Amino acid sequence: MALPFHAAHYQPAPGFLKDRVILLTGAGSGIGRALARDLAAHGATVALLGRQIKKLERVYDEIVAGGGPTPALLPFDLENALAPQYDALADALQKEFGRLDGLVHNAGILGVRSPIAHFDVPTWCRVLQVNLTAEFCLTQVCLPLLEKSADASIIFTSSGVGQVGRAYWGAYAVSKFGVEGLAQVLAHEYQGNERLRINVIDPGATRTDMRALAYPGEDPKTLKTPAEITAAYLYLLGPDSRGVSGERVHAQAP
Ligand SMILES: NC(=O)c1ccc[n+]([C@@H]2O[C@H](COP(=O)([O-])OP(=O)(O)OC[C@H]3O[C@@H](n4cnc5c(N)ncnc54)[C@H](OP(=O)(O)O)[C@@H]3O)[C@@H](O)[C@H]2O)c1
Repeated sequence: MALPFHAAHYQPAPGFLKDRVILLTGAGSGIGRALARDLAAHGATVALLGRQIKKLERVYDEIVAGGGPTPALLPFDLENALAPQYDALADALQKEFGRLDGLVHNAGILGVRSPIAHFDVPTWCRVLQVNLTAEFCLTQVCLPLLEKSADASIIFTSSGVGQVGRAYWGAYAVSKFGVEGLAQVLAHEYQGNERLRINVIDPGATRTDMRALAYPGEDPKTLKTPAEITAAYLYLLGPDSRGVSGERVHAQAP
């Protein structure tokens, strides 16, 4: 089923994510932080995954202060985690919640902007690991939990350079092409399964640390804030998008 309207204009009903358990990576800052607060404000229990525990604790406190369901804290390094850590993460989620209703792959790193001819090989490997391979590993261990939900949703995060190659975007662009491919393969594998949908969001230019790193000369005030672009995420995670799968959504519609 295709999108019935532009998801960026979605206006959710209050509490529409009540009783849903959603795992969100990169929840400590930028888009992830705003999304975590929004998900909780709409009733979801959010499992906050990120590298730096202090940032996750700040989001935890914000959610609790806002009266949202108590979140889970999952300090986890997507660059260095190995199979035992992924298995332990899935075990912890199984014990705590018994299922997942949502998985948002939001964490990512830019690496460096550099021509391919001079691209630093260790940086290339790090970016591909965090932005792509870790998403595959996390998806794989979470699928059994998602399959226990009556209505589950996976969101992958791409970028404008994930569909059309652009000079000097190197490993970041290639990792996002890979993410789009991973999402398409997975969506095809679950085609016809109304209980699990898989979609891609391109957030568009958003006022975060990553954007500032990529465009140091840009005035951040010209950009939407993370809190202004969460509607498409909410739509794809809630019951109104049941059956919508294999789509690519831009989070900022005109
Ligand atoms: N902002 C934009 O304009 C824009 C445009 C297109 C696409 N995107 C995509 O949107 C997503 C969010 O980006 P953002 O702009 O919000 O970036 P951000 O502010 O830099 O946040 C990135 C998040 O990823 C987490 N992360 C990085 N490395 C990690 C690791 N090894 N293990 C666990 N977590 C890790 C960070 O956690 P710590 O802080 O704990 O390290 C941080 O919370 C990314 O996938 C990005 O590619 C952004």
